Amino acid sequence: MSALTLRGARRLAVALALGGGLLVAAGCGSGTGVTGDVDNGKTQFANLCASCHTLAASGKPPSNIGPNLDDSFRASRQAGIDDAQFQGVVHRWITEAQKPMPRDLVTGDDARDVAAYVASVAATGEAADESVIFKAETTPEIPDPSRQELAPPGP
Ligand code: HEC
Repeated sequence: MSALTLRGARRLAVALALGGGLLVAAGCGSGTGVTGDVDNGKTQFANLCASCHTLAASGKPPSNIGPNLDDSFRASRQAGIDDAQFQGVVHRWITEAQKPMPRDLVTGDDARDVAAYVASVAATGEAADESVIFKAETTPEIPDPSRQELAPPGP
């Protein structure tokens, strides 16, 4: 499997994971815009999450232990998903994290605030630029004459 294929597969996995979370977030009936203290969330993120996750807006050095959170949310941001839904997804990751990410690193209002912060900044600014839409590298050739008209292979 080439590196490019792996990268594509990873992004697909994220899109699927996010899709699952969105169903849950939609059930909460939240409006647009995040709820919580985004400044507190930023501090908590820097202390507890940035060691594993890259998030350009945090200003912390990149880390590859966990997924780059700008990459995780870029496709959904481009698709017009609102911050409140992202907040639900991030909050759910905090409470139901999969190994090696520890569950409940932050709880209560702090968890809400971290989710609000990540939701409001992920894949924004410079991190928004890279597109996740992969274009085909070459246009497949259309056979001429078309396949049906080709003579069947000889003996
Ligand atoms: C010990 C390293 C570590 C820490 C600390 C950590 N995470 Fe994670 N996180 C991960 C890993 C690894 C994954 C991928 C797990 C998987 O896909 O099974 C992940 C996945 C995620 C995802 C889903 C991203 C995606 O693309 O699927 C979100 C959102 C997330 N973490 C947010 C946070 C937040 C917010 C914090 C701080 C409260 C945090 N993480 C702290 C390692 C970490």
